[in-house]
Amino acid sequence: MNAVEIKNLSKNFGAKQAVCGLNMTVPMGAVYGFIGENGSGKSTTEKMICGLIPKSGGSIKLYGKDHTDADVRAKLGVLIESPGCFPGLTVWDNMMLQAANLSIPNAEKEVIHVLKTVRMEGAAGNRYKNCSLGMKQRVGIAMALLGDPVLLVLDEPLNGLDADGMRIMREVFADIVKDGTRSIIVSSHLLGELQKVATHYGIIRHGKMIVEMTADELDASCRTYVALQSEEMGRTKSLLSCRYSRVEADEAGYIRVYDLTTPEEIVSYLYGNGVCVTEIRTDRIGLEEYYIDLMNGGKREWKDR
Ligand SMILES: Nc1ncnc2c1ncn2[C@@H]1O[C@H](COP(=O)(O)OP(=O)(O)O)[C@@H](O)[C@H]1O
Ligand SMILES: [Mg+2]
Repeated sequence: MNAVEIKNLSKNFGAKQAVCGLNMTVPMGAVYGFIGENGSGKSTTEKMICGLIPKSGGSIKLYGKDHTDADVRAKLGVLIESPGCFPGLTVWDNMMLQAANLSIPNAEKEVIHVLKTVRMEGAAGNRYKNCSLGMKQRVGIAMALLGDPVLLVLDEPLNGLDADGMRIMREVFADIVKDGTRSIIVSSHLLGELQKVATHYGIIRHGKMIVEMTADELDASCRTYVALQSEEMGRTKSLLSCRYSRVEADEAGYIRVYDLTTPEEIVSYLYGNGVCVTEIRTDRIGLEEYYIDLMNGGKREWKDR
């Protein structure tokens, strides 16, 4: 069984189609990185999953049941936009208020537990307004964790976190899903940030899912290439283009060869044609580049040098 199964989901705001025919599968135990540029439909999709806005079409199943099912709805934890906290109150008092709103039994015990999960047990006495951005985001997640949800939906919780905040968030997410029964959907417009926390990815564009894959698959898709510089870049590029099919100049002033080859073979070929290679290495395209590639429909738009 999957945590989330969405088929052909759509949402229209008047004439505007924010989500059109979106499919999504979130396996149990996943930290599902939901990536897309601003305006691509992430928040709209998340709001429909949580039942905060009605869908225009399609189906959403959560843990095998329709998302409107009362049992399922009770097992959802949501952080969309910032948590509704009182700035002047302490983290503890804010948490207890939320627990009371949700009629959580054994509120004190539960609040201690979720604050511990988000590494905030030592900061419960801090006023909310004095918390760092990362701490505020984690208070929001602690609130979403009240009631022991099996699915957390977090909308852009990583925005603006520093390296330490990201590290803690990664630990918190890993902790939440570690027994394999809970799952997290975490959206972001920055792939680089998600890369540090996600086990699965879904890439959305113009309201449609372009591709879904595991972190390992994404990693494997990041192609390797040979990058080099020589004293005669123009001639080198023409020579390489005669022999290899994918030769491109990158933004850092290197020529990249994406064909299956080795630096040794390239150096010897160029040397044979009177060109001296000054620098050469193999590398892989980063996730960010891979994402840009996908967004460009697989075409690179590097300027030729
Ligand atoms: N309440 C609304 N009314 C009209 N258009 C909306 C509304 N909410 C979102 N949209 C539009 O739907 C599209 C997707 O928005 P959104 O889901 O917020 O994108 P994302 O979260 O990926 O940045 C955008 O073009 C946005 O302007
Ligand atoms: Mg959004």
